[in-house]
Amino acid sequence: MVVKGVVVITLVVTLVAAAGAARPEDGPGLARRGSSSASTHLHFYFHDKVSKPSPSAVRVVDPVDPSSRSFFGMVNVMDDALTEGPEPESKPVGRAQGMYMGSDQAKLGFLQAMNLVFTDGTYNGSVVTVLGRNCPLDDVREMPVIGGTGTFRFARGYAQARTHTLDIKTGDAIVEYNVYVMH
Ligand SMILES: *[C@@H]1O[C@H](CO)[C@@H](O)[C@H](O)[C@H]1NC(C)=O
Repeated sequence: MVVKGVVVITLVVTLVAAAGAARPEDGPGLARRGSSSASTHLHFYFHDKVSKPSPSAVRVVDPVDPSSRSFFGMVNVMDDALTEGPEPESKPVGRAQGMYMGSDQAKLGFLQAMNLVFTDGTYNGSVVTVLGRNCPLDDVREMPVIGGTGTFRFARGYAQARTHTLDIKTGDAIVEYNVYVMH
């Protein structure tokens, strides 16, 4: 009986040790994300301010044909504010850093590449990276989420952008974003 008990305890210890060895950080062959995956919906407003003073989006390359309505060839670099609500004074939650370029010869269509850099709350310091096609005159523009850091490591998903207001005179735009991320 005593001998049997020792065997059982040894077996239990061996199983615990084996379970401990199978943690994700132990090696590429054992990498598992397990129960850490989550699905997050982010909602905020994006302020593309091209007007002076202190624009947050600047044109670094002019379109090939200045009279072109598609702005083909134009490149803008942005560090746009992201806020909780649509008003510019609304609580800041992050920045949209990257660029958009005229990449459609027939209509207004951008290639948009940006990091959504969050600066508030639990997402502070985490980034969601978006790369996609943005036709700003369409009601809804969908762009893929291609990755992320921090909370958003392994991110996959999509962003939907809807223009909230566009000032025709200045070109300044406030855009509502809904971003759905699995991470
Ligand atoms: C976000 O994190 C930075 C760096 O840790 C910190 O300085 C800053 O106060 C944080 N912001 C908020 C709003 O929590």
